Amino acid sequence: VNVARLRRHIREFGVGTVVLAAARRQIRGARHRMRTAIGRPPRTFRYRGRELSEFHHPSGRTWLTERAVEVAVARDFLASLPADAEVLEVGNVLARYGHHGHLVVDRYERAPGVVNVDAEDHTPDRAPDAIVTISTLEHIGWDEPVRDPAKAGRTLRHLRGLLAPGGRMLVTVPLGYHPGLDVLALGDNDAIHAEVIRRRRGGGWESVPPAEAPTPRYEFDARTATAVWIAEFAPLS
Ligand SMILES: C[S@@+](CC[C@H](N)C(=O)[O-])C[C@H]1O[C@@H](n2cnc3c(N)ncnc32)[C@H](O)[C@@H]1O
Repeated sequence: VNVARLRRHIREFGVGTVVLAAARRQIRGARHRMRTAIGRPPRTFRYRGRELSEFHHPSGRTWLTERAVEVAVARDFLASLPADAEVLEVGNVLARYGHHGHLVVDRYERAPGVVNVDAEDHTPDRAPDAIVTISTLEHIGWDEPVRDPAKAGRTLRHLRGLLAPGGRMLVTVPLGYHPGLDVLALGDNDAIHAEVIRRRRGGGWESVPPAEAPTPRYEFDARTATAVWIAEFAPLS
C-alpha cells in the first residue's frame, strides 16, 4: 500500500469514497482470480466488429484497468501493419508489454530507447506509417507543469501532420479525465473510425458508438476509467 497516495486520496475524495474504490478494485481482482483459477480465458469485447480478447498482464495488473482493452486494440492495430512499417509511439506504454523496436517519444519518462521530447515539438527524420498513443493525450498540457487545456488537441493535429501518406494513427483516451478532450472525443473530430469501450456491469467491456456514450466518469480514486475512447485518424489533408 502506498501510504502517501492513500492519505492524499482520503484528503481529496473522503474516506467513504476511498473505501468504496478499494472495494471495487478488490471485487475486480477477485473476479479475475476466480476466472483464472477455473481456467476461463480473458473476456472478449468487440472493436471494429471483431471480437478481441482482453489483454491481461501483471505489469500494472491490466485486468483491473482500461489497459485490458487499450493494449489489446493496439496489438491488433500493430499486427495489421506491414513488417517494415515505421511506427512511432507517443507515451512509453508498449515496452512494458514486450513491444520494442519502434521509436518512442515520451517527454518525462526516462527509459532506454525513449526520446524525451515534447510530443508537440517532435519532428521525426522519417514520416511514420503508423502512430500509436495509449492513454497519453489526456496528460499532455493537463498534468504538465504549465496547464494548457488546448495542447492535447493541438498535439493530436500535429501528430496527424507527421503521418506518411496512407498512414494511420491509433489514439486511446480514458474519458472523464480531461474535459476538453471529452468534448473533442464525443463531438466532431474527423476520426476515420471511433468507438467508446465502456465497462459492463458484472465485468468486462463493451463497445458503444461515441454519440451514444453517457457522460463518462473517471474513477480518480481507483485510478481507472469507466470508458475509453478509441479512435483512428488518417493524415491531415
Ligand atoms: C500513459 S502514461 C505512460 C506511463 C506508463 N509508462 C504507463 O504505461 O502507464 C503517459 C505518458 O505521457 C507522457 N507525457 C506527458 N506529457 C507529454 C508531452 N507533452 N509529450 C510527450 N509525452 C508526454 C508522460 O511522461 C507519461 O509517461
